[in-house]
Amino acid sequence: MTGEFDQVIDRRGTASLKWDYSRRYTGLEGLLPLWVADMDFPAPPEVLQALRRRVEHGIFGYTLEPESYFQAAMDWMLRRHGWELQREWLLPAPGVVPAISLAILALSEPGDEVVIQPPVYYPFAQCIRRNGRSVTENPLILEGRRYGMDFTHLERSIGPRTRLAILCSPHNPVGRVWERDELERLAEICLRGGLILLSDEIHCDLVLPGFRHLPTASLSAELAASTVTFLSATKTFNLAGLGGSLVVIPDAGLRRRFQSTLESVWTGVANALSTAASEAAWRHGEPWLERLLAYLQANYEFLVRFLEERLPELRVMPLEGTYLAWIDCRALGLPDAQLKARILERAGVWLDDGPMFGPGGQGFQRLNLACPRATLRQALERLAGALGS
Ligand SMILES: Cc1ncc(COP(=O)(O)O)c(C=O)c1O
Repeated sequence: MTGEFDQVIDRRGTASLKWDYSRRYTGLEGLLPLWVADMDFPAPPEVLQALRRRVEHGIFGYTLEPESYFQAAMDWMLRRHGWELQREWLLPAPGVVPAISLAILALSEPGDEVVIQPPVYYPFAQCIRRNGRSVTENPLILEGRRYGMDFTHLERSIGPRTRLAILCSPHNPVGRVWERDELERLAEICLRGGLILLSDEIHCDLVLPGFRHLPTASLSAELAASTVTFLSATKTFNLAGLGGSLVVIPDAGLRRRFQSTLESVWTGVANALSTAASEAAWRHGEPWLERLLAYLQANYEFLVRFLEERLPELRVMPLEGTYLAWIDCRALGLPDAQLKARILERAGVWLDDGPMFGPGGQGFQRLNLACPRATLRQALERLAGALGS
């Protein structure tokens, strides 16, 4: 039986970053792309309907997020994550990465240090360095097949110029959904060191059955006062090409500092389509999300079985959250450049190469599971042909 997520839709010719630019980024054509984190699925029907209605209207003048947009986000966070937001905490921003960049500018000085926990979403380090701040790495530790945070190393890494720490929760690319005690230990160290926590929770809704996302700032009032949280409907509902995000800052002083930087780059106008789509998604997208999560879980299980049978040297890490599988290829014994070349050139599959995510990424590949099973199967068959013994 084919279900709603099984349908293969040709995305070529839509200016899709994932499907239309392989020549520009790899020099190769005809690749099957399972790299950048968007999905090969249409957005929920209610979102498409809201967009059609908005497009039918035909006028796309300057737009501001209506109050109903913020209310929809607040209702969603309370319903899905038990976090009661207050309206004045919320600031709209163009996207999560630009908002993180603005938070770095607003809440630290040139030359200050910002902690990240690699292997981690690579734009974090770029946002820090390109804004003239320096990266302090607190690498995750891999115990067996589970990643954890290195609290001892973190405490030792905090110096007089360390101002911020960026948390990826759930963690891209290792797929962890952080537990309460882990978040509490991290929070305690950050609070003691006087660090502001930038909590990127863009993947918060993409948590597989059996796991629960805990918003960092919901853990205590003290922590809320020193946390900036980044949210968006774009990852959950596959709206990245429309943009838009929400920044949650409970502390009035931090909020003023962030807002002043936000205003300095003149980002006061909203995207008319993004606003309509995100609001519809938060209001009506929950049943679709439940179906999506079941499909992603089944894709992950398919991947696990396939690797066990056909590519036993490759080991995929347990997936708790995100739709990004983190695959340990070290047993192949290939240097990174060779592994990458084999996957791209011999298999014709485009994955995200582990070393991009920083220390700890060597020998790993990140595979995007948010595609029809037929696409996943085809990619895995190609990989088996190129990497199998
Ligand atoms: C952890 C994380 N943060 C942010 C983003 C992108 O956010 P935006 O498109 O809103 O800039 C991604 C996209 O993959 C991500 O994985």
